[in-house]
Amino acid sequence: MGYFDVKIISEHFDVPEAKSLDYYESKGGYRMARQATKTAPAEIHAEVKKSNLRGRGGAGFPTGIKWGFVPKDSETVYLVVNADESEPGTFKDRHILFWNPHALIEGMIVAARSLGVRSAYIYIRGEMLREAPIVQDAIDQAYAKGYLGERCFGSDMHLDITLYRGAGAYICGEETALLSSLEGGRGWPRLKPPFPAVKGLWGKPTIVNNVETIANLPWILEHGGQAFADLGVGRSGGLRVVSVGGHINKPGVYELPLTVTGNQLIEEVCGGMRGGRKVKAVIPGGVSMPVLTPGELDVPFEFDALQTDERIAEVEVSPGVAFDLGGGKTLRTMAGSGGVIVMDEQTDMVSAAWRIVHFFAEESCGQCTPCREGTGWLAAVVKRIDQKQGRPGDVDLVASIADGIAGNTICALGDAAAWPTLAFLTKYRGEFEAKIKSSNYKPRATRENKAS
Ligand SMILES: Cc1cc2nc3c(=O)[nH]c(=O)nc-3n(C[C@H](O)[C@H](O)[C@H](O)COP(=O)(O)O)c2cc1C
Ligand code: SF4
Repeated sequence: MGYFDVKIISEHFDVPEAKSLDYYESKGGYRMARQATKTAPAEIHAEVKKSNLRGRGGAGFPTGIKWGFVPKDSETVYLVVNADESEPGTFKDRHILFWNPHALIEGMIVAARSLGVRSAYIYIRGEMLREAPIVQDAIDQAYAKGYLGERCFGSDMHLDITLYRGAGAYICGEETALLSSLEGGRGWPRLKPPFPAVKGLWGKPTIVNNVETIANLPWILEHGGQAFADLGVGRSGGLRVVSVGGHINKPGVYELPLTVTGNQLIEEVCGGMRGGRKVKAVIPGGVSMPVLTPGELDVPFEFDALQTDERIAEVEVSPGVAFDLGGGKTLRTMAGSGGVIVMDEQTDMVSAAWRIVHFFAEESCGQCTPCREGTGWLAAVVKRIDQKQGRPGDVDLVASIADGIAGNTICALGDAAAWPTLAFLTKYRGEFEAKIKSSNYKPRATRENKAS
């Protein structure tokens, strides 16, 4: 069986009428939502736990475990779908929203039944001008059929879904910032704990899940959690929807088994490198994730396989700064948001690093000092290296700034800026040093260096 034969969410991508409720129902859609309204909440939860479904928003946290953090007998529980998708290189949720909005709504009904939710929200990125009306149409169609609102499918369940449009801030994809924004406040992350599952929207228990995470639920209910777990590998169930961009022949959105390696993804799924050039670097899951070299691509692009590897752990980026990401845990990189970026041999890695740190400096919410100041300095120093104005010692300076940010901030945007920087420095250090060597920087004349 080829990679394209097994599909859960993407089966009807590219079919023009796929977004209509009639088409979705003609393919068996909404049967699981109807069934969920008659199923005991704990039974659904047990299947989700069994499925090994892990969050597709970035961290890969097990969904069934997250749902279990909601305090028992909570009177009000909210469900919020994170459709903010602003991580550079990532465009898979946008595709799901465009082609299969009813899978998301059906998944929300399944989740709401299990969690006892009466009000759910979809927080959609403000720039998704094309997708927002499609999702709103799908919600309206579901209301018109009696699948949402009072007595969903004629049952005793009540569920309202509200589509809320963000205003274009990357930080509003971070779950606590998203909740602040949804409450009408500034999109500032909050310290965790308490986690949203305990204290979230308007102080009530709230489950925040990614679009793809939720869209998998109807399949899990239909085929059983075990079948979903069996599709996956190890502690990760199911398939993964990835968006692939960069210097490959066939960029796009693909739903793939978790066993597919980086090399297979490039050669067998994406038709190889553009112009027959060689691979130089691959970012596996959005620009927050450390970059991989060609020698590291023979690994499944799966949560655990990408995360634990000893090879990089011992590397010292610069004196006193180790490439040790995540509280002493040895990480190579992470599967992140599923946004794969492939770079060929002609890519200038210093310019690529600058583009990434510049993004984070622009998007820092400014709340905590290491991130606000550190990302600005990272961008400034990497920019001067890139523009041949680098100074001796700049590589170590960049490493020490990144090291000062990592692990010292309120939310993970700080790590998201620091980790890729340290990876670029470790793996492509020669390119940074070469640019500094050919720098046009001349120290300004001071009394001290005039004298010497
Ligand atoms: C800076 C930042 C941006 C994020 N952006 C998104 C996003 O756009 N979409 C998303 O689903 N998760 C995003 N996340 C992760 C969310 O905070 C959260 O973990 C996720 O929505 C949970 O859903 P899941 O368990 O289904 O993955 C972001 C995290 C951070 C730190
Ligand atoms: S780490 Fe950055 S984005 Fe996150 S709260 Fe602090 S300043 Fe804001």
